[in-house]
Amino acid sequence: MHHFGNPRFELIRHDVVEPLLLEVDQIYHLACPASPTNVVGTLNMLGLAKRVGARFLLTSTSEVYGDPLQHPQVETYWGNVNPIGVRSCYDEGKRTAETLTMDYHRGAGVEVRIARIFNTYGPRMCIDDGRVVSNFVAQALRKEPLTVYGDGKQTRSFQYVSDLVEGLMRLMEGEHVGPFNLGNPGEFTMLELAQVVQETIDPDAKIEFRPNTEDDPHKRKPDISKAKELLGWEPKIPLRKGLPRMVKDFRQRIFGDHNEDIASSA
Ligand SMILES: NC(=O)c1ccc[n+]([C@@H]2O[C@H](COP(=O)([O-])OP(=O)(O)OC[C@H]3O[C@@H](n4cnc5c(N)ncnc54)[C@H](O)[C@@H]3O)[C@@H](O)[C@H]2O)c1
Repeated sequence: MHHFGNPRFELIRHDVVEPLLLEVDQIYHLACPASPTNVVGTLNMLGLAKRVGARFLLTSTSEVYGDPLQHPQVETYWGNVNPIGVRSCYDEGKRTAETLTMDYHRGAGVEVRIARIFNTYGPRMCIDDGRVVSNFVAQALRKEPLTVYGDGKQTRSFQYVSDLVEGLMRLMEGEHVGPFNLGNPGEFTMLELAQVVQETIDPDAKIEFRPNTEDDPHKRKPDISKAKELLGWEPKIPLRKGLPRMVKDFRQRIFGDHNEDIASSA
């Protein structure tokens, strides 16, 4: 939205499931519903990259590692994914997207880049799409209990969005295909995350336990040695620094509260 006034910015509303004809040099392929159409959209964008000779960057995911048997996860690990579970259309969709990307690279000479993104959070995220950080933040702000699925001991690593953007741009502009893990190696259990949200927003926020979803990975933590070495990249913003920035944005969107801005600029 904040780019609308920029003459070098153009927004085209288009469903990537339908083919698209454009003249472009680079494609950052981020569009992805959590459904099998993930694959069709990737195929169309690879087709576009092939036709116009553009460099194509796939935003894959740590979900390709499934419920990992190796910890932390390195890019050479092939993963442990249930092909018929409730989460499979996303996990297997991205695995297929990686396969297609490599096949277009090997078979048609398309220049490709693959990023495996670990949980990312930040301002302007969708408030109610069910991801854990946005859930907790919105719940704490609305004075609702923080819902923890299972025993809360499963771990995730949380990356602030500007660190990811820097990593994606370095990957696109660099010489290496990947895949590269892009994530913050700081590892938190869901209960620890809930505590950080309590510290940041409301120390009295209650925690409510719910039955866990099927195939929820027990542990997630990226090994980012490859990105450090070949892209010269590592995240700079720890959770306790990034979360308040997201909270400020969520507070404004949920309550339309602009007083904070005035207070912080005074
Ligand atoms: N945020 C994360 O933690 C994370 C982690 C791993 C991978 N990723 C990947 O990074 C990419 C971006 O993630 P995000 O968190 O910004 O997701 P998001 O859901 O916030 O954004 C995805 C965007 O894709 C658009 N989209 C969906 N289907 C489309 C279609 N058929 N045609 C055109 N646009 C379509 C949606 O409208 C939305 O704006 C996705 O590919 C996601 O799988 C994200």
